[in-house]
Amino acid sequence: MTQSDFCIQLKDIHKSFGSQKVLRGVDLDIVRGATTVICGESGQGKSVLLKHILGLVRPDRGEVLVEGENISRLKGSALKQARTRFGVLFQGVALFDSMTVFDNIALPLRERSRLPEKEVAAKVKRALEMMDLEGSAEKFPAQLSGGMQKRVGLARALQLEPDILLFDEPTTGLDPVKSHDVYKLFFATQKKLGYTSIIVSHDIPKIFNLADHIAILHEGRVRACMTPAELQRSRDPFVRNFIVRVMGSAHNSKQNGCDNQ
Ligand SMILES: Nc1ncnc2c1ncn2[C@@H]1O[C@H](COP(=O)(O)OP(=O)(O)O)[C@@H](O)[C@H]1O
Ligand SMILES: [Mg+2]
Repeated sequence: MTQSDFCIQLKDIHKSFGSQKVLRGVDLDIVRGATTVICGESGQGKSVLLKHILGLVRPDRGEVLVEGENISRLKGSALKQARTRFGVLFQGVALFDSMTVFDNIALPLRERSRLPEKEVAAKVKRALEMMDLEGSAEKFPAQLSGGMQKRVGLARALQLEPDILLFDEPTTGLDPVKSHDVYKLFFATQKKLGYTSIIVSHDIPKIFNLADHIAILHEGRVRACMTPAELQRSRDPFVRNFIVRVMGSAHNSKQNGCDNQ
C-alpha cells in the first residue's frame, strides 16, 4: 500500500471534551474503494471520529486528510465543497414521514443538483430497482419494514454519487437477521459502485467477514487495523481478547453460515 491508495488519513488525532480525553492519538488510513468497519465498545469515540472525517468536529491536535487535503483547517465554502464528497447514513435514517419513498430519495437531487425533474425521476427509478423497492415508490416510510427503511436511506445517501459513504451504526433497531441482510446489501452495493465505505458498528460479529478492513478503536487509539482473516489469525493478546469478548464464538463466522456471498 502506498500513500496514494488512501483516500482518508487520520494522523495523531487528539480530542478532549472538557477533562475527558476521548481520542488520544488516532492513526488510521482508509483505503480508497474498500469497506472499512470501525468497531469498538460504546462510548469509545467512534461517532466523534466520524465527525472529524466530516469536518464537523476539529481535532485538538493532529490532521485529517481527505484526498490529501486537511479538512480540519477548512472553513465556510471550502469546507462545504469538501463535504460534497461524502454521503452519510446515520442511526435513525431520518426519512421524512410525510414524503413518499420516491420523494425521500429524490430530495437530495432536488435540493442540491440542477437536474430537470425528468432526470431526477429516472435516477430515482434506477435506485428503486437497485434496492428492490420498485413496488414501494408511492408508500410512506411508516408503511415499510425497518430493513426497507434502511434501504431507502441508503438509496437516498447514494443519490449525489458520493466518493465516500459514512455509516454510523446504520442497523440500530433492526433484529440481527435483518441487520445482516442490510449489511449484505451495503457491501454488495459498495462492490458494484466502488465508493469508499466507512461503517461504524459497535458489535455485530456477522459483518466482520464482509469487510475489507476492520479497525478497533480502544481507549482513544486505533489498536488494530487489519483484514478479517488477519484479525482471526492475530496473536496480539489485545486482538484475541477483543474477538473473544465482543464476538464470542461467532467470530468463526464461516461455521455460522455467514460468508462473502
Ligand atoms: N460534543 C460533545 N461534547 C461533550 N462530550 C462529547 C461530545 N461528543 C461526544 N462526547 C463524549 O465522547 C465520548 C465518545 O462518544 P461517541 O463518539 O459518541 O462514542 P461511540 O460512538 O463510540 O459510542 C462519550 O463519552 C461522549 O459523551
Ligand atoms: Mg456512536
